[in-house]
Amino acid sequence: MPSTLQPFLPLLDTLNRPLHDLRISVTDRCNFRCAYCMPKAVFGKDYPYLPHSALLSFEEITRLARQFVALGVRKIRLTGGEPLLRKNIERLVEQLAMLRTPDGHPLDLALTTNGSLLTQKARALKDAGLTRITVSLDSLDDATFRRMNDMDFPVHSVLEGIATAQSAGFGRIKINMVVQRGVNDHEVLPMARYFHGHNVALRFIEYMDVGSTNGWQAKQVVPSEQLLAQLQQHFHLTELPRQSGETATRWGYCRTNSTGADPSLGELGFISSVSQAFCRSCTRARLSTEGQLYLCLFAHQGHDLRSLLRNGVDDTTLQTRIATIWQQRQDRYSELRSLGQIPNTVVDQPLRRIEMSYIGG
Ligand code: GTP
Ligand code: 5AD
Ligand code: SF4
Ligand code: SF4
Repeated sequence: MPSTLQPFLPLLDTLNRPLHDLRISVTDRCNFRCAYCMPKAVFGKDYPYLPHSALLSFEEITRLARQFVALGVRKIRLTGGEPLLRKNIERLVEQLAMLRTPDGHPLDLALTTNGSLLTQKARALKDAGLTRITVSLDSLDDATFRRMNDMDFPVHSVLEGIATAQSAGFGRIKINMVVQRGVNDHEVLPMARYFHGHNVALRFIEYMDVGSTNGWQAKQVVPSEQLLAQLQQHFHLTELPRQSGETATRWGYCRTNSTGADPSLGELGFISSVSQAFCRSCTRARLSTEGQLYLCLFAHQGHDLRSLLRNGVDDTTLQTRIATIWQQRQDRYSELRSLGQIPNTVVDQPLRRIEMSYIGG
């Protein structure tokens, strides 16, 4: 770390939030068309995806990631679109796995996937040094799942992918289910029953008003509180400690006649970005496939780091730019919506926001 940058550390934004997580999108493409993320009507054959020349190369991503790590990042998550569609993604994992924190520790290196290519890729990702995997799975019922991914993709292939990742040695896998009223809320209990005892963390996500194409409405959200109450009728649950910066509240399963959680049974999590915004502890920066830095999932605009890279600036200049951007960060979108300062339907929100498929979860 060059001495000129010491004044930036610890790096805090205007709400005193440190920069701790970097989420890197490696492609804006996906082989699913979940209506809440990439509705077919918008993301059709003619959709203008990024051309290959616009994408950051693995070397460019790794170089940028190194600067973020020097500024405090300890966790990197690869996202998409669907990150496993990026050719040779395991080569990028290999490069990122070699990065070290200033005191010599490896990073927490995770990936979010729809699971469709996990059976083929899990072993290579593990060997390359990936530490954690999160799989998006919205239903166990094959008909509902095929309808939700809108590509007629069968659920058994995703379940096989999860099993392959477990046998490849990935520890507790996180499973993310976006719950939409009237679409898959009937699948909450079957999902909990299915994964109970399987050492996974099943997390229920409140459907969010992210992007500008999904036509989100508040009435489609099932508040986590309701889901928890429903699940408590079927399982004996106990709340687990929440780490700072964590998106989910966590609940462990207790065995009969015991008040302590038995970790071998797995856990449940609730990500309540709509009903209980967690902006005050948001330590996440997001790097798009084309090298734009975004400070919030709901941002309208990013900060171009690719042109700096391609103009040949040195590491100190890159770090100074990133640090300055973070120090000016004010974002707290979900909190503002909860406070009624942002309209409650996407159509009433005038500025076009980035899409989840572009920036990743
Ligand atoms: P790790 O701590 O890296 O394991 O990630 P995580 O627990 O934050 O979970 P993950 O990356 O799987 O994110 C889960 C879901 O939470 C995402 O798909 C989003 O729906 C939501 N989410 C994650 N980060 C944010 C955020 O910064 N703001 C909001 N509003 N939602 C988020
Ligand atoms: N609300 C909540 N979560 C979403 N995701 C995508 N769109 C939304 C939304 N509108 C989640 C997916 C996946 C991750 C990439 O982002 O379920 O877990
Ligand atoms: Fe669905 Fe994830 Fe693909 Fe979006 S990126 S369409 S949520 S699988
Ligand atoms: Fe962070 Fe923005 Fe999400 Fe708030 S809305 S938690 S600031 S990404």
